[in-house]
Amino acid sequence: MFDLTNYRKLFLLTENYNYLNHASTGPLPMPAVMAISDMARKYSEQGMIEWQEYEQLSNSTRVLAAELLNCSNDEICFVQNTSQGIIYAIGSIGFEKGDNVILMQDAFPTNSAPFRYLLPEVEKRYVASREVLDNPDCILKLIDAKTKAVSLDWVNFLNGIRIDLKRIAQICKEHKVYFIVDGMQGCGAVRIDLGDIQPDFFSSAAPKWLLGPHGIGILYVNKSILGNLKPCNLGWLSAEWDNFYDIAKPRKLKPTAARFEEGTKNYLGMVGFKESLKLFDQIGIDKIEAQVLDLTSYLLDKIATPQFEIITPKNRRERAGIVSFKRKDKDSAELYQKLKENNIVCSLRNGYLRISPHFYNTKAEIDQLVSFLL
Ligand SMILES: Cc1ncc(COP(=O)(O)O)c(C=O)c1O
Repeated sequence: MFDLTNYRKLFLLTENYNYLNHASTGPLPMPAVMAISDMARKYSEQGMIEWQEYEQLSNSTRVLAAELLNCSNDEICFVQNTSQGIIYAIGSIGFEKGDNVILMQDAFPTNSAPFRYLLPEVEKRYVASREVLDNPDCILKLIDAKTKAVSLDWVNFLNGIRIDLKRIAQICKEHKVYFIVDGMQGCGAVRIDLGDIQPDFFSSAAPKWLLGPHGIGILYVNKSILGNLKPCNLGWLSAEWDNFYDIAKPRKLKPTAARFEEGTKNYLGMVGFKESLKLFDQIGIDKIEAQVLDLTSYLLDKIATPQFEIITPKNRRERAGIVSFKRKDKDSAELYQKLKENNIVCSLRNGYLRISPHFYNTKAEIDQLVSFLL
């Protein structure tokens, strides 16, 4: 067991709250707060920040992100949020009338709304997270010659189900179908190995399990497909930029996923995100995963009584950091209110209490939560 005490100090909310709500918003660690504040101060004191400093910041943050996801730096680009990553995937694949796409019927709207609004003429076919968990091959019955993409949530925002991305990526490859993943509810809570899984796109914003600020996230674009894509958002910074002496000079598009970064980036967000990623690098995602799964297992064991309806799987491989349930004999909204009044922070979603601890939470905090539930 690794010592958590030092890390708890990095999160000011541990002084006042039992915070079990990382599936909603993760707190910023203090090094991220300081880095953002230093940069904000710099803007006030000196206005311009040298171009090279931004480049260095982007490059080093990209390296940390690629290490966490186990992919190449060339496959990472920065986006504003998970939705933007999915929208870039949709916009660059080249959907045509008559195509179909396979989606999750219980996905968070990030992974359904863009398809509905942007592709009204593309047929949507649906699977449930539970079906995919029980048998990833279930998507085979929905794939046909007109299927262009499968777009699924890695971890479901409500029931916490974590699906087997590797098998689905294999199926998609065999059928020449793009595989898009919304990784938001797993990335930072449990390990992901994109080098091994090889999806086509994987999008996750920073502000939940990755403990970063709003307005920044990462999109992975598999390098084997980059040449086939027609990005919908190419701009001046999609090209190599060497100097400001000859602004009109035609420049070549970047040969990497960074071509999806069309203009000036959210550097204030990035400077904080970098510090959060450094924390993941220092501790190691395997230790983080072990702690997240230990805490959620501990909670599941405590509430494994007939009083509770639990919708999260018990098996560690089938979930990440989310545990959702309700008491059969009590109103979840009332329980939620009681927890809130006692500074225990979780979410109320679709009538279920959703508990989502991170690596710095403790079993004592789970015990305190449970004492209000029983
Ligand atoms: C599975 C999932 N994806 C994405 C998001 C957020 O999407 P975005 O970063 O586009 O706001 C959420 C938010 O709760 C989520 O649960």
